[in-house]
Amino acid sequence: MKKLTEKKEMKSGSPIVPFAKAGGVHELVELKLAPTTNVRPDNLNYHANAGKYDDEITRSIPKHRELHEQISKIVAQRYKAKKIKMLELGLGTGITSGVVLAAAGAGSTLRGIDFSTEMLAEARRKLAKYGELVELIYGDYAELPLGAGYDLAVTVLGIHHQTDDGKKLMFKRTAESLKTGGMFILGDLMTHRDGHKAALNDALHYAFLVQNATDAKMLEEWAYHHKFLNQLAPVEDQIQWLLEAGFSKAELVFSEFNTALVVAVK
Ligand SMILES: C[S@@+](CC[C@H](N)C(=O)[O-])C[C@H]1O[C@@H](n2cnc3c(N)ncnc32)[C@H](O)[C@@H]1O
Repeated sequence: MKKLTEKKEMKSGSPIVPFAKAGGVHELVELKLAPTTNVRPDNLNYHANAGKYDDEITRSIPKHRELHEQISKIVAQRYKAKKIKMLELGLGTGITSGVVLAAAGAGSTLRGIDFSTEMLAEARRKLAKYGELVELIYGDYAELPLGAGYDLAVTVLGIHHQTDDGKKLMFKRTAESLKTGGMFILGDLMTHRDGHKAALNDALHYAFLVQNATDAKMLEEWAYHHKFLNQLAPVEDQIQWLLEAGFSKAELVFSEFNTALVVAVK
C-alpha cells in the first residue's frame, strides 16, 4: 500500500479510497494498469498541472461548455425530481460530476473513479459540499469493479485512452453496472468513419487549440497529447459497440469538430 502524498488533503471531505475499502482507510493501493489503458497518469500533461486543468480544457476542447449544458438538460429532464445513483469513469477535477450532481434530484450519489491523484485532489476540493454523497475512487477503472444498480453512468473525455477493445469492454461493463432503463452519457473526442470528415474535424480541432492556447507551452503540451496520446474511434463504431454491449438504444445528440455526445439507454 502506498500512502497519498498530500496527507493534509485527506483530513476532511470525501475520502479518496481504493474500491475495496470504500468508506474506509485513506490509503491508496498501488496503481495497476489494464492492458487496454494506453497511458499512465504521469504521461498526461494535466496530472502535473491539475490546478490549471479547468481553464485549459475549455481552450483545448471545442464546445466543452456546450457539451456540459446539453448534459445538464438531459439529466435534469429525466432525473431532476429523483434521487439517483451515479457512476463516473475518469471524473478528473469534477467538472462533469458537478454538472450531473446539480441536475439530478437532491440526495443523489456519485461514485467517481480516476487514476490521477492530482486530479482527484482537485475533484475532492470542488465536490466537498456534497460530503458523503460523493465517493472518489483511485485506480484504473478498467481494472476495478464498478459496482451495480446505477441509474446513470457518465464519462466525459474519460474513455479515449482506452484501445478499441478497452472501449468495447468498458461499454459492456458499464451496461452491466446499470439498472434496466438506466442511462449512459458518453461525451468524448471521437472521429468519423468518413476519412474526409475525420481529417477536416482534426484540422478544425487543432485550429481551435492554436487560437485558444494561452502560450506556446500549453499549445505544445496539448498538441502532443492530442496527437500521440489520444486514441479516438469513429462515433459510428462506438454507437455500434454500445448496442452490442447491451444498450437498447444509442444516439448521437451533439457533435462539433471531434467533440461528440452519445446517449445510450439500457
Ligand atoms: C480529461 S478528464 C475529464 C474530466 C471531466 N469529465 C471534464 O470534462 O473536464 C478525464 C480523466 O480521466 C482519467 N482517466 C483516463 N483513463 C482512465 C482510466 N483508465 N482509469 C481511471 N481514470 C482514467 C484521467 O486521469 C482524467 O483525470
